[in-house]
Amino acid sequence: MIIAIDGPAASGKGTVARALAAHFGLPHLDTGLLYRAVGAEVLARGLDFADVPALARLAASLDVSALDAEALRTGPVGEAASRVAEIPEVRQALVDLQRDFARQPGGAVLDGRDIGTVIAPEATVKIFVTASPEARAARRFAELSARGEAVTPQSVLDDILKRDQRDSSRAAAPLRQAPDAVLIDNTHLDKHESIARALAIAAARTGRS
Ligand code: CDP
Ligand code: CDP
Repeated sequence: MIIAIDGPAASGKGTVARALAAHFGLPHLDTGLLYRAVGAEVLARGLDFADVPALARLAASLDVSALDAEALRTGPVGEAASRVAEIPEVRQALVDLQRDFARQPGGAVLDGRDIGTVIAPEATVKIFVTASPEARAARRFAELSARGEAVTPQSVLDDILKRDQRDSSRAAAPLRQAPDAVLIDNTHLDKHESIARALAIAAARTGRS
């Protein structure tokens, strides 16, 4: 049983993915962390975003067991992630490990931008989670400001709109709702209502409640 959750920045896809994984007892991979890890290394090493061979080597040598989720969830790293994510050679270097994770015996939950379209088009359950840019920016502002990042509501909204635009318009695996994905627009839902919808969708698709 593969569960694919996609959606734009701060839509709550990770929240839904973690809840489904816990409910069904499945392993979960936040694929955004892979791109964030590559982006963080590019910043740390002062590499040029145009140096495709160096960035592809970084992606190919990524140690997935050593990802520090907390350190990677910053605004600048999100921006760097979406810049490296435009590069087909970087995406290619990360495909096999995501596909292997999805196809492990028993199943898995993955969240990202291209899980239902590219990584696991065969997924049993596909959900596309979204919300208005303003709602998403308010959620991300609360997270980043609580962590002490110097952000304003407007700067977070600007960053989200820019990242949405880049993620949707790139040629390689753009952010798209798969034709067979079920949409959850949680602009006016709280986290618990959003999770309840996802559980109902998964139950309908799998026959498992
Ligand atoms: O949590 P948030 O939605 O802000 O970002 P994320 O899921 O951690 O993803 C960071 C960036 O990685 C995104 O803006 C995408 O450009 C890229 N990404 C991707 O291209 N494909 C994925 N499957 C996951 C993330
Ligand atoms: O993974 P993604 O970047 O899409 O978002 P997230 O990390 O799951 O969550 C974004 C934030 O929105 C978290 O603080 C959630 O508690 C909150 N939230 C939500 O996930 N769903 C709602 N319907 C409302 C708020």
